[in-house]
Amino acid sequence: MAKEITFSIIKPNAVKKGAIGDIVAHFEKNDLKIAAAKLTVLSRKKCEEFYAEHKERPFFGELVDFMTSGPVMLMALSGEGAVLKNRDLMGATDPKKAAPGTIRAKHGANVGENAVHGSDSAASAQRELALFFEKSEIVND
Ligand code: RTP
Ligand code: MG
Repeated sequence: MAKEITFSIIKPNAVKKGAIGDIVAHFEKNDLKIAAAKLTVLSRKKCEEFYAEHKERPFFGELVDFMTSGPVMLMALSGEGAVLKNRDLMGATDPKKAAPGTIRAKHGANVGENAVHGSDSAASAQRELALFFEKSEIVND
């Protein structure tokens, strides 16, 4: 499988509980490298743009409130098959349904506060990375 780059967010609940180190270690142990990283608080405008596909969903307001409630860690992850691998490492959206050992099973509180975001396709990854990083900020080795 070819090397890919995907986009990941460590969400406010996981940053708050001090899980950045554990989550980054989990990626690195599974051969995903941190190719860019930024700790920041999202503006509502940027967050709404990021989640535009969910605008009509009933949980949209709650999702934006949560995602702008505190610092998040934005990352580019690189590695073989990085998009699917990251989704596998994250586990199911609802932490109660996430397989044991996955990041969401370990650090998710509920379906909203589920610790991490990961791009769902290579095309989404490109769109999402471009929202938050300049091309020159992403290490390509
Ligand atoms: P993500 O985009 O964050 O990686 O998660 P995902 O693909 O597994 O889930 P998606 O369907 O894209 O939903 C995006 C985020 O919205 C929140 N959500 N809340 N209250 C609810 O029923 C509900 N459903 C989804 C979650 O934070 C989810 O990660
Ligand atoms: Mg999604």
